[in-house]
Amino acid sequence: MKHLISASILSADFGRLAEEIHRAEEAGVDWIHVDVMDGHFVPNLTIGVPVVRAIRRYTRLPLDVHLMISNPEQYLEAYVDAGADWLGIHVEAAVHLERQVARIRELGAKATVTLNPATPLCTLEVILPEVDMVLLMTVNPGFSGQTFIPATLPKIRRLRQMIDEQGLGVLLEVDGGVQRDTIAAIAAAGADVIVSGSGIFNDHDIRDNVRFLREALTRHGQRRGNPGG
Ligand code: DX5
Ligand code: ZN
Repeated sequence: MKHLISASILSADFGRLAEEIHRAEEAGVDWIHVDVMDGHFVPNLTIGVPVVRAIRRYTRLPLDVHLMISNPEQYLEAYVDAGADWLGIHVEAAVHLERQVARIRELGAKATVTLNPATPLCTLEVILPEVDMVLLMTVNPGFSGQTFIPATLPKIRRLRQMIDEQGLGVLLEVDGGVQRDTIAAIAAAGADVIVSGSGIFNDHDIRDNVRFLREALTRHGQRRGNPGG
């Protein structure tokens, strides 16, 4: 399948957020990735429910909401109600994971389960068939613009294998340090959805940045004999 690019607005200009999202949409990104941080689960504070609700009015693209918060169960309904199409919780923050995944789906959103770089894949053993997507963090969450941790590449490959071996339709998303020079390796390791923040919104032009990322994906696809990437 074609790789999907989810643009993390954490690196966008918050003073012109609607415009930045519009430009990313025009540049051809597939989803908008929204990083919600609480200053507790991660050492940073970003945006919350009202901003998700506001963004929802400015784009038709799916909203891929990444909750980096403690006690996510308290807020699932609020984020789905605000417009999250995909709602992600961290395994490290959710004590009763199955219950929360079921709740997200019951509310009508797709459920994503997220793992920090140091969290092993065995934490997915029971939950994997129940989720719509697994998000593997390839930096420690909290900030955009961090460097991709290369040791996470074999982890992406192993998760790809687990999903395929079980014949599951679970998507594999990767987030953190995705740039022009890392995206091809991430795609080759087996990611379906690739998040990029600073790689899309920093420097240059959003359109150029997305084009470079897509070109790197296409080159990778051609090497695999699949021109569609
Ligand atoms: C990190 C966030 C990421 C981040 C990605 O805590 O979850 O989504 O914004 O930013 P880049 O692509 O710059 O690493
Ligand atoms: Zn994120």
